[in-house]
Amino acid sequence: MIPRYLLNFDLSQMETEYCDYLIIGGGVAGLFAALKAASWGKVILLAKSTLEECNTSYAQGGIASVVKEDDSPSVHYEDTMEAGVGICNPDAVKVLVEEGVSRVRELIEIGVSFDRENSNYSLGREGAHSRDRILHVGDSTGKAIQDALMGSTRSTENITIEEKVFVMDLLTHDNRCVGGLVYNEEKGTVKAYLAKGVVMATGGIGQLFDRTTNSVIATGDGLAMAYRAGAEVMDLEFFQFHPTVFYPPGEKAFLISEAVRGAGGILRNEEEEQFMIQYHPLADLGPRDIVTRAMMSVLKKTRTEKIYLDLRHLGKNYIKKRFPNIYSTLKEYHIDVARDLIPVVPAAHYTMGGIKTDLFGGTSIPGLFAAGEVACTGIHGANRLASNSLLEGLVFGERAVIGANRYIEEFSPHLKGIEISYFDQRNSSRERPDISRLEKSLKKLMFEKVGIIRYKESLEEALDFIKQNSAYLTFSFNEIKGYELQNMMLAARLTARAALLREESRGGHYRQDFPSVQKKWRGHLVFTLSQEREEEVKWLGTSW
Ligand code: FAD
Ligand code: SIN
Repeated sequence: MIPRYLLNFDLSQMETEYCDYLIIGGGVAGLFAALKAASWGKVILLAKSTLEECNTSYAQGGIASVVKEDDSPSVHYEDTMEAGVGICNPDAVKVLVEEGVSRVRELIEIGVSFDRENSNYSLGREGAHSRDRILHVGDSTGKAIQDALMGSTRSTENITIEEKVFVMDLLTHDNRCVGGLVYNEEKGTVKAYLAKGVVMATGGIGQLFDRTTNSVIATGDGLAMAYRAGAEVMDLEFFQFHPTVFYPPGEKAFLISEAVRGAGGILRNEEEEQFMIQYHPLADLGPRDIVTRAMMSVLKKTRTEKIYLDLRHLGKNYIKKRFPNIYSTLKEYHIDVARDLIPVVPAAHYTMGGIKTDLFGGTSIPGLFAAGEVACTGIHGANRLASNSLLEGLVFGERAVIGANRYIEEFSPHLKGIEISYFDQRNSSRERPDISRLEKSLKKLMFEKVGIIRYKESLEEALDFIKQNSAYLTFSFNEIKGYELQNMMLAARLTARAALLREESRGGHYRQDFPSVQKKWRGHLVFTLSQEREEEVKWLGTSW
């Protein structure tokens, strides 16, 4: 049984803050949404860590946008649709590629200084793009964007930013979202934030896997709290693994950007042979899911543990200038990229699924809007085209606020005097679990059994583990790590369930026992909770 809230509470007994727009999350989607909302009302933005710590800050390759004359939104549209293997939402993709151009211009206006060559922008190429269209700031594009957005939001009146506060659950009243319950671990307090419109921008679920490129914040909180509140979630079986991640033993993974292959980097096997040409006409620049699986198959054939990325022919000066962060980080590990091969393995990277939204971030709960990696607009279909997600954060961050503003004008939500309380029989009879051990086991299992290659028995094994530990979903934790574990268990269960149901292979979902794309599976699995709090699954066929 999935509880409605992670804690028992009575709103009338709690300290309460009020605002017009509550933005949960301070990455590209949340910050951009806050900037847009500030012209309409009082905004509070909450982030569970410092603003710097999020996936946006780690983005390397860049942001896809139509800049050159040989490119156009329709070509960008075609590339995105092709990468998504038949199930992208064409209306959402059209919005992304058309409005994206103006949103990127706004980024430039607030101070993001994309690299130039002479007077023109220097454009990178990444997997499955048919044109050079990746604007970048060295190989630290995300940090440059995050810094500029943090600067703007911090200096905008009407926006209050609170860092290191953990949103536990969404508050609903008369089936509408009216705010969130917020835990401050340092102070040991829980506070209610009531808002006329709520925008969820909490990012993805990449921390569900033990080998991941993602920030520590990506524990699927937004997905889990929206699901607990009754929102529809979609496409969770589609998860993207990035082919080239450097894994120093016992340390955090470090991404080696796909832009490196766009610049001529080559994947090689143990014998130093180039192999991608046998797997895709675009060779090393094929779609990510195909490159990742090709690497897994080479590793299996050669019974080795690593693939190598070769940049030696690109020359030290070029690499140092174009990819300074990659160059210097590898140097710390005594790898000289102009002389040595870089050992790489695939790792969990991007969540294609999420909270189901319309084109203005609207979810199935009135008053709740979602944008960025936590949302599922259908743009990415079964596989995201590289560098489309920073763009998505901007375009749909703004649109979610437009959606919220329309909702507020139409419905005029009244917040004063709302009564909400919740009580369930908390499961305190069970012994407190060793959170860190349980989390480790879950992540290992997710990578091995619900990872790059899945099959019926592997998925059932993962679901069995989750079922055995499901009593912890109602355990009374009193710490963020415990709440995150509860959210991860829920997100893991949804991912494994969706992967078990989809008996085909498509994009980021590969079933060894059903290895081909099946026409009848051209659509989406949508999960929601029934009135009785039982899991319900709906099939949503594509209408295109
Ligand atoms: P995030 O940037 O992850 O921000 C999430 C926010 O939510 C954070 O502020 C966090 O504190 C907050 N939050 C989460 N849970 C809670 C909670 N319970 N309570 C309060 N706050 C909460 N995409 C590209 O387009 N181009 C690239 O080059 C690129 N490179 C990448 C490289 C790496 C290593 C990674 C990991 C991703 C990359 N991506 C790239 C993907 C892209 O960075 C992300 O999809 C995007 O930045 C997500 O933005 P977001 O605003 O949705 O979430
Ligand atoms: C990368 O730089 O390889 C990551 C790009 C992305 O995930 O969009």
